Amino acid sequence: MDKIIIVGNQPLKGSVAISGAKNAVLPIMTAALLADGVSHIHKVPDLRDTRTMVRLLEMVGAKTTYKNGTLSIDARGVDTPVAPYELVKTMRASFYVLGPLLSRLGVAKVSLPGGCAWGPRPVDFHLKGFEKLGAEITLESGYIQAKSKRLKGNNIRFDFPSVGATGNILMAAVTAKGTTVIENAAREPEIVQLARYLNKMGANISGIETDVLTIEGVEGLSPADITVIPDRIEAGTFLMAGAALGEVTLTDVEPSHLDIVLDKLDEAGATVSVGQSTITIKHGDVIKPVDMTTGVYPGFPTDLQAQWISLMTIADGSTVVTDTVYKDRFSHIPELTRLGANLQLENNTVFVRGQKFLIGAPVMSTDIRASASLVIGGLIAKGTTEIGRIYHLDRGYERLEEKFKKLGAVITRESE
Ligand code: UD1
Repeated sequence: MDKIIIVGNQPLKGSVAISGAKNAVLPIMTAALLADGVSHIHKVPDLRDTRTMVRLLEMVGAKTTYKNGTLSIDARGVDTPVAPYELVKTMRASFYVLGPLLSRLGVAKVSLPGGCAWGPRPVDFHLKGFEKLGAEITLESGYIQAKSKRLKGNNIRFDFPSVGATGNILMAAVTAKGTTVIENAAREPEIVQLARYLNKMGANISGIETDVLTIEGVEGLSPADITVIPDRIEAGTFLMAGAALGEVTLTDVEPSHLDIVLDKLDEAGATVSVGQSTITIKHGDVIKPVDMTTGVYPGFPTDLQAQWISLMTIADGSTVVTDTVYKDRFSHIPELTRLGANLQLENNTVFVRGQKFLIGAPVMSTDIRASASLVIGGLIAKGTTEIGRIYHLDRGYERLEEKFKKLGAVITRESE
């Protein structure tokens, strides 16, 4: 198992190219299953999660090739509507195959993520949506089975604008008979790109970028090519590190997807300058404490909550950080505390008392974004930080340590 070793408290300077977005490419890869032909996806990041999705696509009968960041998916042979537990348990986004398989083959059998009982969470919105479209849903031996000869359009309203449920239902509804309206739909840039991609394949979706999506069902979709949008979460991770430690320019980025994050960084005293596809961040004399509450897009992303806390651990005062999207996503708190951060967790709120500095220590990665917050913590901390279980980080970041090394960080990867 690999670990990352950081000798921290070194200035960062230079530029870094942002990769294609993990959360955009995963549903796009499954959308390619909807067309009986070959689709090409450009700027596909080489991540553990994209590799897992490739395995899943091949298991259902697609053929893939990956060269120079372009993934070609030949979905002509799709014939096996099953997503097994072994894959789904390692990546919740595997659930995205349900909509396309149901649409294409009239049946899909997908393991419940994480082996959860069929309770109100975590995929209840998806399942209620499929039922509304006329699918017959059953649960057997940890697998959801969905069946329908042809789905029928309907009105669906989500209790919460879930990214995954919006994407999954969209992919099923595009070929349903008649009109589907999704209310309280997610508006995240990754969902916007998915909807645009589906339209490029021949779907008829309107209301894109709003929280009401109207889908006029079509008979079938054709293959299409697309370039994945820049990863706003990877970009945000580098922005937090830059705000803490130096001057960093991001290239290949979409600044408009980061409006609220850039506003918060500006409030925190960093100097931010924005070009068409670049952002430069320079740390100020002090990091000002700035409270933050996550929200659905265009709110502050929950996927940057942990990294924001890392930055605030060395702010000149106290901050309050609340996560309203994932209310129990705080496994980084005890690990950052090991670096000397002064953090107190109450329900879904963290009280951060800024310190002059952190001190390196061995810590453990627990999930993708928690790992990123530990990398930032390690870069800030004086002395050496060792981060174990780095495979979590590799699920969502492409060669993160190499990118930070290019900026001047003293960071290495070691195999245990
Ligand atoms: C996606 C992102 C993840 C991000 C999250 C919120 C991908 C692959 N992952 O996850 O990185 O943190 O959006 O921006 O794109 N919920 C239910 N029932 C459901 C579905 C969701 O209760 O059927 C709840 C969840 O528990 C959570 C909230 O809704 O509290 C938001 O979840 P959702 O937007 O669905 O997140 P994901 O699509 O899983």
